[in-house]
Amino acid sequence: MKKYYIETFGCQMNEFDSERVAYILEKEGYELTNNIEKSNVIVINTCAVREKAKNKLYGHIGNLKKLKELRQDLLICIGGCSAQNLKEKILEDFPFVDIIFGTHNISQLPELILKRKELNNSICEIKNDGFDYAVNDFKNIYNFKACLPVSIGCNNYCSYCIVPYVRGREISIKPQEIIKTAKKLVSEGVVEITLVGQNVNSYGKDLEKPVTFAELLSNISQINGLKRIRFITSHPKDISNDLIDVISENENIMNHIHLPLQAGSNKILKLMNRGYTREDYLKIIEDIRTKIKNCCITTDIITGFPGELRQDFEDTLDIVKRVRFNRAFTFIFSKRNGTAAYYLEDNVPLKEKKEWFNELVLLQNKISLEENKKFVNKNFEVLVEGEGNKGLIEGRLENNLIVNFDGDKSYIGKFLNIEITQAKSFYLTGKILK
Ligand code: SAH
Ligand code: SF4
Ligand code: F3S
Repeated sequence: MKKYYIETFGCQMNEFDSERVAYILEKEGYELTNNIEKSNVIVINTCAVREKAKNKLYGHIGNLKKLKELRQDLLICIGGCSAQNLKEKILEDFPFVDIIFGTHNISQLPELILKRKELNNSICEIKNDGFDYAVNDFKNIYNFKACLPVSIGCNNYCSYCIVPYVRGREISIKPQEIIKTAKKLVSEGVVEITLVGQNVNSYGKDLEKPVTFAELLSNISQINGLKRIRFITSHPKDISNDLIDVISENENIMNHIHLPLQAGSNKILKLMNRGYTREDYLKIIEDIRTKIKNCCITTDIITGFPGELRQDFEDTLDIVKRVRFNRAFTFIFSKRNGTAAYYLEDNVPLKEKKEWFNELVLLQNKISLEENKKFVNKNFEVLVEGEGNKGLIEGRLENNLIVNFDGDKSYIGKFLNIEITQAKSFYLTGKILK
């Protein structure tokens, strides 16, 4: 049997796209292998969000050269956001790559493979925009949880961000299709669904019959047997009171919101084209805290944006101290070709940016640890997800925190009651309650 090997970088959207690739290849008779050396087709699904992602990709493709030299019939396919971004450039740098396919060309993969076998040349197939989605056609890699896109692309053009250029304009998937797929997943045993979009809060505005994300969530929460609903990512500029209400009113919508702050200074937020002020952001946090019980709030923050001065960075530290995020994903600004921020003057030396970054990370780790300690000696329902650290197994609390505990792999996919015994900055440790 022909075998495929697939590797995924980047966000949940890419994870989902890989599940689509898997579905499409399996329909063509390919079987998944985790052994790259035994594969006939290698698919690398790439990310482009920061320069580091590209560098990692380049190192990785370089390593595939040896495999290709040993077996000329092996097909190396590069897809995803860096493929969309770099196009033929990847072939110039790595002529041994067989197929480059864009984020809007996934469904064409089988025909591209056939074409490549007939031709002597490598292929680069990139559409600039479009809707290449059959929401039902994917291979869910877990049998108890799933990710489901509600929209693809992004219209926000945050000035630092490459995503709108590599994913195209925001297109919402029809609510009926999302609900149908969610019901099917639940009937197959899925108990947790994460709805995914670059900005879920602007969902539905482009539909023939506009629907809000709050309405969609409310409909999905009615599905019998669906125990946990999550969603990412919420953009602060589009979050609505209705959304906060729907979360607070429905038990199966989890008490976790990922709300990227990006920066705490109004000057920088404006330069980033984020569409909200620090005051707006703090008001949303206040509303969430008032309405949603014990809501975990996580965020993304960029430091070293062009023009950011110490006083701007201190505005970020200030918000971090006020909000006390449960977790923050922190990044040093990375200049992306073609984005508006690429052209902004940047006179802060990298050394200084790194110092600020480290200061932020230290502060956030301290806060995360203090917040996590509040869970110790309390009991929570946990969905067991997989293997954790040092032979332990790993589960997730409703609020999205991870807990490690001693247990059997047969618990994976099941709910257990866990007592939290210890807290670290990034996870908890616990024991099963009998
Ligand atoms: N759509 C999501 C984020 C997608 S990218 C949202 O708007 O929240 C994930 C995170 O990567 C962003 O939130 C941002 O913090 C970070 N990021 C994006 N572009 C970046 C860049 N050029 N440099 C550094 N970090 C970046
Ligand atoms: Fe990028 Fe902004 Fe869109 Fe998020 S909302 S994907 S950060 S442009
Ligand atoms: Fe990366 Fe593309 Fe996601 S750039 S973060 S994989 S949308």
